[in-house]
Amino acid sequence: MKDLSIEQSEKFVRNELGEDATGHDWYHVNRVRRNALHICKLENIGDPFIIEMAALLHDIPDEKLNTTIEQGKTKLNSFLKTIMIPDEAKGHIEEIIDSISYKGGKKTELKTIEAKIVQDADRLDAIGAIGIARAFAYGGKKGQSIYDPAVSVREEMSIEEYRKGKSTSIHHFYEKLLKLKDLLNTDTAKKMAANRHQMMLSFLEQFYQEWDGQDL
Ligand code: ADP
Ligand code: NI
Repeated sequence: MKDLSIEQSEKFVRNELGEDATGHDWYHVNRVRRNALHICKLENIGDPFIIEMAALLHDIPDEKLNTTIEQGKTKLNSFLKTIMIPDEAKGHIEEIIDSISYKGGKKTELKTIEAKIVQDADRLDAIGAIGIARAFAYGGKKGQSIYDPAVSVREEMSIEEYRKGKSTSIHHFYEKLLKLKDLLNTDTAKKMAANRHQMMLSFLEQFYQEWDGQDL
């Protein structure tokens, strides 16, 4: 039953997210799944089936891919109804997905190790070389500038401001990406984050050098 549920979820997600270009595409989901299972294995903790299911389905109810948050939750819930696994497992998967979103830096207490692992895997995919690429892809889609020195970095912001306020993709590094390494739950994810974090710092350093023409 478990293998079948994974297969059904994979198919459903590919269908739902396949064409999305905001960084929530199938390959993102697949990297999150792979990294989550890797963390689970190295930490030797958590239920790998719940982790894999939650990782696969984690972007289904995302506000950006649905008209309302409610609609997103219903989409996930209706899909889970078609899967032959215990209600308790379905409840856990929904709870994980509901709790892991970043939402402008607001911290929600994660109740289970499975939630912590999937959140770590999702956050790892927002940093490093992939994270840089995703930030500019997202910024481009939103019509946001790559950088504007006149725009100030927002320290504290509401969810509304995080989504709608004026920012640039370079600003997003300070508002979110550079903070992520200190917000990880597991030691394995922290180790994986080190190189990725360094990569973003070198990228920014080089970016400003070229911006200022110091490299001429
Ligand atoms: P989360 O899944 O944690 O809620 P988002 O859905 O907000 O993250 O973001 C999806 C991807 O787009 C991430 O890689 C994120 O870093 C990037 N992103 C989100 N907001 C911005 C922004 N204002 N500028 C640039 N990139 C962004
Ligand atoms: Ni994600």
